Amino acid sequence: MDWTVFTLISWTEAYFARHRIDSPRLTAEILLGFCLGIRRLDLYLQHDRPLEKQELARFKTLIQRRKNHEPVAYITGEKGFFESSFQVGPGVLIPRPDTETLVTTTLSVLDENPRNPQKILELGVGSGAIVISLAMAHPGHLFFAGDISLSALETARKNAAREKEIGTIHFFNGSWFSPLAPGPFFDVIVSNPPYIPSSDIFGLAPEIRDHEPITALDGGDDGLECIREIVTCAGDYLVPGGQLILEMGFDQKTAVSALAKTCPQFDQIHVIQDLAGQNRVAQCKKKID
Ligand SMILES: C[S@@+](CC[C@H](N)C(=O)[O-])C[C@H]1O[C@@H](n2cnc3c(N)ncnc32)[C@H](O)[C@@H]1O
Repeated sequence: MDWTVFTLISWTEAYFARHRIDSPRLTAEILLGFCLGIRRLDLYLQHDRPLEKQELARFKTLIQRRKNHEPVAYITGEKGFFESSFQVGPGVLIPRPDTETLVTTTLSVLDENPRNPQKILELGVGSGAIVISLAMAHPGHLFFAGDISLSALETARKNAAREKEIGTIHFFNGSWFSPLAPGPFFDVIVSNPPYIPSSDIFGLAPEIRDHEPITALDGGDDGLECIREIVTCAGDYLVPGGQLILEMGFDQKTAVSALAKTCPQFDQIHVIQDLAGQNRVAQCKKKID
């Protein structure tokens, strides 16, 4: 049988559906488009194009990887986030649509502050999706971004180098604040730290559990270990009136708000919901005096 683009998409859709892979048709289209180096729309413009032997062999490998629950973004090496696209690979968390709420909240905070340039710190930079999105919107500000993972930092640096109109980002390696000299320096500290309780990791989808880096997911026994460290230290690094903006789990609002209230440096704490109406972002403002 001669495989054409159309027959191959239909066959792959049915194959993925049988193996309970999410969004089987969309996944088939993305992988075939990636394999042939063409856009999804062009698959339909070339629906009767026959595939060559090497193309079929390459596509078969991609199908097997996805059947083994490897995330599509690791297979294609790319994930769209906010207004751009970022390289990702094993060892680096795939940026999530939920995290766009952290970006839009931070952009509003930057827009409200007349100080120019502002200094912004991201802790746990991963692929760089957050800090690069901010630096693209505010090329005049100064950005600092750290991660304990060297492969994350390497990916974030590469992603930053792909963008032309972007503010300066200083990347550093180490655990949370430890590489930084203490002092009230930053206008904004933003972070999407690991916040999944250790005991929940096993129950995650295999795409996440078996493929994404555990250091990007595991928030310790109660899920709050990283959040606790960031919330309790952030006040020492923020200028008066500066803000900590933190992503958290949808069920962590009460715990994170209580934690922030134990820090005398913060006088305003707000929780923002994501587009699905889930509590997602905590915003803690440092007192002015
Ligand atoms: C949930 S991921 C977020 C990645 C990226 N900011 C995003 O939103 O897509 C958490 C990140 O924190 C980093 N991380 C974990 N423990 C850390 C630590 N002790 N110090 C600094 N970064 C850490 C992980 O390597 C990972 O890149």
